Amino acid sequence: MTAILTTHGLCKNYRGIKAVQDADLSVARGGITGLIGPNGSGKSTTIDCITGFTRPSSGKVSYDGQDITGSPSYGLAGIGLVRTFQNVRVYERLSVMDNLIVASQSLRAHGWLPLMLRSTAVKADEKAIMQEALSFLELVGMAHYAGAPAGILSYGQRKLVALAACLITHPKLIVLDEPLAGVNPTIIRKISGLIETLNEQGLTFLIVEHNVDFIMRHCDHVIVMEQGKKLTEGKPEDVRRDERVLEAYLGKRVGLETKGTAYA
Ligand SMILES: Nc1ncnc2c1ncn2[C@@H]1O[C@H](COP(=O)(O)OP(=O)(O)O)[C@@H](O)[C@H]1O
Ligand SMILES: [Mg+2]
Repeated sequence: MTAILTTHGLCKNYRGIKAVQDADLSVARGGITGLIGPNGSGKSTTIDCITGFTRPSSGKVSYDGQDITGSPSYGLAGIGLVRTFQNVRVYERLSVMDNLIVASQSLRAHGWLPLMLRSTAVKADEKAIMQEALSFLELVGMAHYAGAPAGILSYGQRKLVALAACLITHPKLIVLDEPLAGVNPTIIRKISGLIETLNEQGLTFLIVEHNVDFIMRHCDHVIVMEQGKKLTEGKPEDVRRDERVLEAYLGKRVGLETKGTAYA
């Protein structure tokens, strides 16, 4: 499989902390790549560099044949690269529907302010956008909350809305930072099923996730980070058996097998 995204020598320093060091990573087009590692190993910082939320200190990021190093996130959404956050972000005072409309509108020239003021240009395509937003809310099982303020939603429901807000931008690559963390088993199954279905439809995923059962069942390739560096990578079953991974990730005695819990 060819790569949709690669990093070469990616580094990010925060005042003496080497959060990411010389990382060469590759995400296969059409696949589900897992990015795992202990807390503080640099997973979120790597994703921040890839998706334009922080500028790498050095190194190169290429996406879909383009050098995107240091490109801002809004530009990347326009070429099909979007993400969700470890601490899920929604506009709490806006309705669930408007959260999706803002995401869709962020790709357009007029931005979100005219949208909120309902300018003429926005009104023209509003109906079509609303219909599309509703169809994505139906897909993630949140259509019945379309008119509700996003602030009333549970953490897991916010994650579903955040995923729908990614989908409305028609991405090619979605980067998910801990999509299953802190959500109940029903929503874990829902999100896992959605990832599988969307991937079958051709969407590529890069997923940071601690849920080992999810990684083993759904990822075709796993990259392991430790202390800012790539420790190893490979098929999930090989990575699981790798002594260095067991040692770095959980400690030898525990082993990766015993850690996956909430996913059924
Ligand atoms: N904005 C920041 N400022 C300073 N240090 C940071 C910042 N973001 C991350 N770090 C540090 O970089 C390292 C990697 O963090 P992070 O990428 O969040 O790891 P992970 O997502 O694997 O848990 C940690 O030591 C963390 O404290
Ligand atoms: Mg993180």
